[in-house]
Amino acid sequence: MLEGKHIILGITGGIAAYKSAMLARLLIKAGAEVQVVMTPSAKEFITPVTLSALTGKPVVSEFFTANTGEWHSHVDLGLWADAMVIAPATACTIGKMASGVADNMLVTTYLSAKAPVFVAPAMDLDMMAHPSTVRNLATLRSYGNHIIEAASGELASHLTGKGRMQEPEVIVAELERFFASTSQLAGKKVLVTAGPTYEKIDPVRFIGNYSSGKMGYAIADEAARRGAEVTIVSGPVSIKPTVPGVRVVNVESARQMLAACEEAFSQTDIAIMCAAVADYAPANPADRKIKREKEDVPVINLVKNPDIAATLGARKQPGQSLVGFALETDNEHANALDKLRRKNLDMIALNSLRDAGAGFGTDTNVITLIDATGAETRLPLMPKTEAAACILDAINNL
Ligand code: CTP
Repeated sequence: MLEGKHIILGITGGIAAYKSAMLARLLIKAGAEVQVVMTPSAKEFITPVTLSALTGKPVVSEFFTANTGEWHSHVDLGLWADAMVIAPATACTIGKMASGVADNMLVTTYLSAKAPVFVAPAMDLDMMAHPSTVRNLATLRSYGNHIIEAASGELASHLTGKGRMQEPEVIVAELERFFASTSQLAGKKVLVTAGPTYEKIDPVRFIGNYSSGKMGYAIADEAARRGAEVTIVSGPVSIKPTVPGVRVVNVESARQMLAACEEAFSQTDIAIMCAAVADYAPANPADRKIKREKEDVPVINLVKNPDIAATLGARKQPGQSLVGFALETDNEHANALDKLRRKNLDMIALNSLRDAGAGFGTDTNVITLIDATGAETRLPLMPKTEAAACILDAINNL
């Protein structure tokens, strides 16, 4: 998967920089071309000579070569790369990346990079747990960067806890997994539904729900990052895709959402139903605002909305994949499996409202993936952006 890939290996000033030599070697062995970009303080921990010998390319660290005045273009580097890996990433560099402090070649290259970015933090446990680091890492995740979580163990300070840079083999495996899923999703047409639906009562009122759309938008962004052609059919939400090129079709009601999905579905390879579709709509929405003074307490008769996932499930052709979500409060596995079968889904992502950190409005989710055989994979609590990556990986493996 890494054969011929252009990888920028960013190295910052932490003890774990000694492992970066092994990482460079593994990447080269896997067939990648590696360009090392070091921060000035990284050179205190590992010499550029070691890294240029391993990669066969001079290490870049300064904006200019002092004696010749040659300018090192971070823009060209950013365009050259298929991926940028920053390992180790210190708290300082993570903070600079989060807030755009481009005072060295590494951070400028990061800001110019169009390719996916992988960040392997390494620091002492207290620095790792500090709200500043936690917030900065969350910011990087919100930019779509992939965080390769630090491991727990003995640290350079001789304290024990979370903060060890992941082993080079783990980082390489993460890159390979990413490129594998990218090659599977590249050029594929992905349809995502997201957000709530609003069902009109009168011109100023509706029946809706608290869905924020965050999970669906995270999936749409991640699929686009992996090279898919993405359409998101979205109910009313206050967010936008962060990745350029994602097509948004704005709808309000379940019926409008169904119409937009039906139009797109025949051209779709993978449809992921994240929307919290209202199950019922007012049967006769009023043309004019229902007035409080003149009328008795109004009775709103409801009609059943169409089931979008089930409609697409009934039309699914071989080669198309359909994935749904299930939000349950009890009897979770059985209810989710029943939904999967009724709607002819290939996989369902189950959220239980019993799990803290899951559900509407949160930035995190706890998901259990269930396939058509009933086999389940429970993912830990993680940001919706990472859950999106896991869901797309699982779809690839179907
Ligand atoms: N769904 C849909 N159209 C609907 C209702 C649900 O496309 N009218 C999709 C959702 O986007 C989700 C899946 O079906 O992917 C399950 O949604 P959920 O609300 O959990 O299930 P319901 O079928 O509405 O069942 P219930 O509300 O009884 O749990």
